[in-house]
Amino acid sequence: MNYYIITGASRGLGRAIAENLLSKDNHLFCISRRMNDDVITEAGLKDCKIDYFEYDFNFIEEIDMLISTIFERINFSKAQTVCMINNAATLNPIKPVGKYPSFEIISSMNVNLIAPMLLISEFIRRTEEVSCNKMIVNISSGAGKHPYYGWGCYCSAKAALDMFTGCVGLEQSNSPNPVKIISFNPGIMDTDMQSEIRQSREEDFEQVERFIKLKEQGKLKSPDFVAKKLLELIHNNETKSGMLYDINELQ
Ligand SMILES: NC(=O)c1ccc[n+]([C@@H]2O[C@H](COP(=O)([O-])OP(=O)(O)OC[C@H]3O[C@@H](n4cnc5c(N)ncnc54)[C@H](OP(=O)(O)O)[C@@H]3O)[C@@H](O)[C@H]2O)c1
Repeated sequence: MNYYIITGASRGLGRAIAENLLSKDNHLFCISRRMNDDVITEAGLKDCKIDYFEYDFNFIEEIDMLISTIFERINFSKAQTVCMINNAATLNPIKPVGKYPSFEIISSMNVNLIAPMLLISEFIRRTEEVSCNKMIVNISSGAGKHPYYGWGCYCSAKAALDMFTGCVGLEQSNSPNPVKIISFNPGIMDTDMQSEIRQSREEDFEQVERFIKLKEQGKLKSPDFVAKKLLELIHNNETKSGMLYDINELQ
């Protein structure tokens, strides 16, 4: 059995990843604030085991309990693969720094950075003795490398998550049962996150016109295309731990 933990599976890329993994050989653990009823129905039709957790990553104190519940349902003696995809994220607040209250900074960091760090830490701790294929994917963004006016929290969280990937990759290279960990930049995709960007006010996000044009010119990738590319990367033995992969640089 292959076990996949997917955060942010209700919409966009997370939903497409879950849909592409529906098979009787896989057991999915999906997490988001809202349940994705369609993926649950489809899983039933395809004889795929699925557990869906409605959870808000702002509640960081209870993440250990969430991961504990998930790991109790994994049969490690039958596991070929255990893979976690940290995909859930929020762009908010979209405004220059100083124009929003402190709690919005805390919320952005909780969802985009602290939650994945806690999940990664617990994944590593709980699978230390497990020798099956173990993999963690952190969904990154070009915003982790380039500053954007109005995206201070989001850019900072993605940059920090990429660095965490690098550090964990280094540490795991010394482990007897290493977890492979990568960051993956999915490029610009046609999801709710992009429609939020297009609705920004220019005084909050200077590049809003550019993103409106990208949509008009049909330059946005479909989440299904990106999900398929990511799964190829996950299943490729040549994929190197600790690295940041960019969809635009994949074959
Ligand atoms: N779209 C792009 O162009 C683009 C570009 C570069 C990188 N990315 C990255 O790609 C990933 C997927 O993005 P997307 O475009 O698919 O985003 P999206 O359409 O906005 O979906 C975000 C997902 O995250 C979940 N989520 C958000 N806040 C949450 C919270 N507090 N607790 C639990 N779950 C939460 C949402 O579920 P609920 O609302 O049900 O909680 C949803 O399933 C993200 O990491 C994003 O940073 C996207």
